[in-house]
Amino acid sequence: MGRWFILVVLFVLFIVTWGAPQTSQEADCPCSNPEFCKPIKDTKRKEVFVFSLSKDIDTWQKYNWTKISTVVMVGYYSDDMMCLAHSNGARVVTIAGVPTDYLTNATLQEEWVVKNLAVVTQKHLDGINFDYESPIPADRTDMRDGYTALVRLTYKMFKEYNPSFQITVDVAWSPACIDQRCYDYKTLATVTDFLFVMSYDEQSQIRGPCVALANSGFYKTQSGLQKYFATGIPSEKLVLGVPWYGYYYPCVAVSQDNTCSIKHVPFRGVNCSDAAGREMNYGFLMRIIQNSTTGRLWETSTLTPYFNYKENGTTYQIRYDDPVSLKFKFDMALKYGLRGVGIWNADALDYSQDTPEVIRQRAQMWQAFPDYKKSEITIRNDF
Ligand SMILES: *[C@@H]1O[C@H](CO)[C@@H](O)[C@H](O)[C@H]1NC(C)=O
Ligand SMILES: *[C@@H]1O[C@H](CO)[C@@H](O)[C@H](O)[C@H]1NC(C)=O
Ligand SMILES: *[C@@H]1O[C@H](CO)[C@@H](O)[C@H](O)[C@H]1NC(C)=O
Ligand SMILES: *[C@@H]1O[C@H](CO)[C@@H](O)[C@H](O)[C@H]1NC(C)=O
Ligand SMILES: *[C@@H]1O[C@H](CO)[C@@H](O)[C@H](O)[C@H]1NC(C)=O
Repeated sequence: MGRWFILVVLFVLFIVTWGAPQTSQEADCPCSNPEFCKPIKDTKRKEVFVFSLSKDIDTWQKYNWTKISTVVMVGYYSDDMMCLAHSNGARVVTIAGVPTDYLTNATLQEEWVVKNLAVVTQKHLDGINFDYESPIPADRTDMRDGYTALVRLTYKMFKEYNPSFQITVDVAWSPACIDQRCYDYKTLATVTDFLFVMSYDEQSQIRGPCVALANSGFYKTQSGLQKYFATGIPSEKLVLGVPWYGYYYPCVAVSQDNTCSIKHVPFRGVNCSDAAGREMNYGFLMRIIQNSTTGRLWETSTLTPYFNYKENGTTYQIRYDDPVSLKFKFDMALKYGLRGVGIWNADALDYSQDTPEVIRQRAQMWQAFPDYKKSEITIRNDF
C-alpha cells in the first residue's frame, strides 16, 4: 500500500462523485431538495458546534437550528440529519476515533484518511471531528507527532478534495498534559480549522482535598484558554466547548458549609477524580432539583450552580451548568474573540415531554448561545 493506492481510490471517488452526470448525483441525493446535499461553503463563520448522540428525528426537530453552525453525528450516520442540518445552513460532520496503533504507522494512516474521505463524500457530509482522548505521555513524541501527522494528512487530502470541508480536533480544557494528553496542540491548530476545547471534566484529576467540585468552573476554563493562547494559538482557532451535563456525586460526608467529600477513585495517575460521580444530563437534573434538600446554590469561586439531593439515606451533590453559568462562559468566548462555542451534547435536555416548563427550560438553554450570524440560512425544516 502507498501513494498509488490513494491515487486509485481518489480516482474512483472522482469518477463516482464528479465524473458522473449531474443528474445521477442529484438522484443520489436523499433529501427533498438536491441543494441540501451540497456542503456548506462559508469557512470563516463563527461556530455553535454541537454534538448529537440521539438517533431520533423528533429530538433533532426540537434543536434550535437558528443557533447551530455545525452538528457532529456521534455513533450514527443519518441522511435525515444531513438533510435537516443542510436545510438549516448547518454543517454536518462525522466523528473520528483513531486506534492507538495508527498513530505510529504511516501506511495505516493513509488508508484511514482515504476511507474517511470516502465516507464524508458519499454521505454528503462537511468534514470530520477528531476525538482521540487517550493518553500520549510526554516522552512518547513518536505518538504525539504521529497524531499530528494523521490530522495534517486528513486536512491536506480533505481540503484538496473540497476546500470548504471542515477538520477539527477535540482537546482537553488545558494544553498542560491534562489526563496525560501531551499532544502538540500548537501544530494541531495549524492543520485544522479549529480546536474544540472541552472545558468540562475539569475535575478528572483532583490534586487537593477529595471533594465534589465544578465540572466547568469559569476561572479554570479561563486559565485553560489562556494557556492555549500562551502556546501561540490564535483566538480564532479555538471553540469553547461547555457541558449540558453535570456530575452526580455520592458524598461520603457533607460539612456544615456544604463541602461534599467523595470516594477516592484514581484517574491517570491521580488518586481522586470526578469518576467518583456519574455524568447526568441537564434534563434529568432539572427533574431531581425539584426534590433537592438545598435548592439551587451558587458558587462564586467558579460561577456555577450546585445542589444537594438525598436518596435512600445518601446525600448527593450535583455540580452542573445552567443558562446563567453558561452565559458567563459564552461572554468570555465573545470577549476573547474565539471562533465560537459548542456543547457536549445537544441531546442532554428533556425532549421527551412538551410541558410549558420543559419547553421553557429547553428554550433557555438554546438561547444562552451567542447569536452569531449565518450567511447560509436556507429553508427551515423543508428537507
Ligand atoms: C503498519 O501496519 C501494517 C498493516 O497492519 C503492517 O503490515 C505494517 O507492518 C505496519 N508498519 C509498521 C512500521 O509497523
Ligand atoms: C492521595 O494522594 C495524596 C497526595 O499524593 C496523598 O496524600 C493521599 O494519602 C492519597 N490518598 C489515598 C486515599 O490514596
Ligand atoms: C419528589 O419527591 C416526591 C415525594 O417523595 C415524589 O413523589 C416525586 O416522585 C419526587 N420527584 C422526583 C422528580 O424525584
Ligand atoms: C434507591 O432505592 C431504590 C429501591 O431500592 C432504587 O430503585 C434506587 O435506584 C435507589 N436510588 C439510588 C440513587 O441508588
Ligand atoms: C431560537 O433562536 C433564535 C435566535 O436567538 C430565537 O429568535 C428563537 O426564538 C429561538 N427559538 C426557540 C424555539 O426558542
